[in-house]
Amino acid sequence: MFSTAFLDIPAMAGASGTVRLPGSKSISNRVLLLAALASGTTTVHDLLDSDDTRVMLDALRALGCGIDAAGSTLRITGIGGQLKSKAPLLPLFLGNAGTAMRPLTAALSLLGGDFELSGVPRMHERPIGDLVDALTQLGCRIDYLGNPGYPPLRIRPVDHSALVLDAPIRVRGDVSSQFLTALLLALPLAAERDIAIEVVGELISKPYIEITLNLLARFGIAVRREGWERFTIPAGSRYSSPGDIHVEADASSASYFIALGAMATGIAGQNGIRIEGVGADSIQGDIRFIDAARQMGAQVDSGPNWLEVRRGAWPLKAIDLDANHIPDAAMTLAVMALYADGPSTLRNIASWRVKETDRIDAMANELRKLGATVEAGPDFIRVHPLAPADWQAASIRTYDDHRVAMCFSLAAFNPARVPVRILEPHCVAKTFPDYFETLFSVAEAFEVPVICIDGPTASGKGTLAAEVARLLGYHYLDSGSLYRVTGLAMRRAGLGADPQHEAQIAALAAALPLYFTEGKVLLAGEDVSDEIRSEAAGMDASRVSTLPAVRAALLALQQRFRQLPGLVADGRDMGTVIFPDAALKVFLTASAAQRAERRHKQLISKGISTTLDSLRTDLEARDARDSSRSVAPLKPAQDARHLDNSQLSIEQSIDQVLNWWQEVQPFKSA
Ligand code: DC
Repeated sequence: MFSTAFLDIPAMAGASGTVRLPGSKSISNRVLLLAALASGTTTVHDLLDSDDTRVMLDALRALGCGIDAAGSTLRITGIGGQLKSKAPLLPLFLGNAGTAMRPLTAALSLLGGDFELSGVPRMHERPIGDLVDALTQLGCRIDYLGNPGYPPLRIRPVDHSALVLDAPIRVRGDVSSQFLTALLLALPLAAERDIAIEVVGELISKPYIEITLNLLARFGIAVRREGWERFTIPAGSRYSSPGDIHVEADASSASYFIALGAMATGIAGQNGIRIEGVGADSIQGDIRFIDAARQMGAQVDSGPNWLEVRRGAWPLKAIDLDANHIPDAAMTLAVMALYADGPSTLRNIASWRVKETDRIDAMANELRKLGATVEAGPDFIRVHPLAPADWQAASIRTYDDHRVAMCFSLAAFNPARVPVRILEPHCVAKTFPDYFETLFSVAEAFEVPVICIDGPTASGKGTLAAEVARLLGYHYLDSGSLYRVTGLAMRRAGLGADPQHEAQIAALAAALPLYFTEGKVLLAGEDVSDEIRSEAAGMDASRVSTLPAVRAALLALQQRFRQLPGLVADGRDMGTVIFPDAALKVFLTASAAQRAERRHKQLISKGISTTLDSLRTDLEARDARDSSRSVAPLKPAQDARHLDNSQLSIEQSIDQVLNWWQEVQPFKSA
């Protein structure tokens, strides 16, 4: 997951390959609640692991459910419709998870305990009044602790005998279908007699109600439905565990990869995107996104639990669509509309305004930043296509809304070849923590950006480069470690760093069984991180690095580190030889006295005794060798920026490099 302040996605040239998507959020949280209310143990396979499901699991654990995780399966032992103990007031924090807040409000109101439900500030702006009104009609006791109509809520115990079940419960269906879902999921708790629910107003997002009914049926509850206006939970309904249940991959998450398949041409002879975990026969309403994608020109094939998508019409065909049935996935259409042959209109999407953020405003604002003309109203958005000359490199605000972040990543496929900056990319953790990694596994950029930081030994380039990489979410290459490991392999093979062994050492270098993980260097599985950091290993590295065949053998290995979304590489010849086309090259220096002092401190702190003088002599000898060798000597690239950090703190050096990086980017402001 990217926990950086922003993520820059370079302009993309194409995409192809296979992705496996995480489980559906809607199915996951419904299944969790049903399994928790049922008696017996339910084994849930392929559950989504995300912020929203974690919030739900924490709440269920607090209610007394048994929860055991083993790999991607979870065993839940339910409470059998009854609280184990009547605990005093139980506070539950539900983050920004509407799929936890709404159904838990209904279920807890009927379970008979004393609860306080709260969430993040945005959660306290998301309406719940219609659900509370419906539950209050029934006799439940719920108080608003903040603004009337919104969480946080206090739920007080009620006796089932006090519930008014003879009249139908009326609930509004035109704000959020989650209110009806919440009642449907929870009312079996009180089904001593038939309970009828009447929907007031036109029910929106009907497919989500279908998921609810489908899953209730899996847990033994056969709701009777008359049109979309009246639902009856039969007397005597009881949640019974199906034993095992599989969670389909998330159809809304699939929309980004369906769009990708429709937009991107293949790479490396492959064609199209294959999506595993969800097929066209999915129970999730958002799967109907494939119809809209087809209308726009995508070629979609499907089988049990898979989809394959290719580019068909190009440019895409503009659409005018009532998107009420696919509210979440339709956001993806708004970005696809940039690539269409005319303006596209998405209608009947008022519910966008009460989601994680006001999604109509958010989409309109951010699409405009890309250069698009957008019209928006209370319940529609119209997006005009973007001509190649009008595309702008934009910093996209994501409003703590995972879907804004995910759908705008698609704007990296643009004819102007400009990158897209996604602010606060970690918000995707709500439903798809590895979204960007998954995207990068199938996408190919025109050019993966590289920042080179070269300089003499002990100039602090390792610390600087690793930190810059971390802040940008880029990969990191410590090229010196490759020479150090080669030196170690040479020693272990009983060879010396002289020209007569050059070919043998180069052969060792070409086949190093190296693996980098969590800041450690593994050689054939053995952690050699400490061993290669010794002064002697540095000297060996410096010696093997003078051998041209060794340098040639390590070239391809170093270049393979250049992967999306970008790379920060440190060494001696990153800017001159390995990545001559790098967008930013820094040559980092510090006085020999300073460097000797830093190294001295480092070694002393590790308990290694040494003197400043001997360190300085070694350092200067190494600099002299590294700078005078015939191949790839240590020297600044012509276009390198010089940074003398003798008088700078690490933070100041990092800021300088990030400022330079910002200067060479097309973004107007961060
Ligand atoms: O950066 P370092 O101290 O870990 O590097 C050890 C030696 O490896 C260095 O003295 C010279 C060599 N080296 C090189 O020749 N080219 C690089 N890109 C990195 C290191």
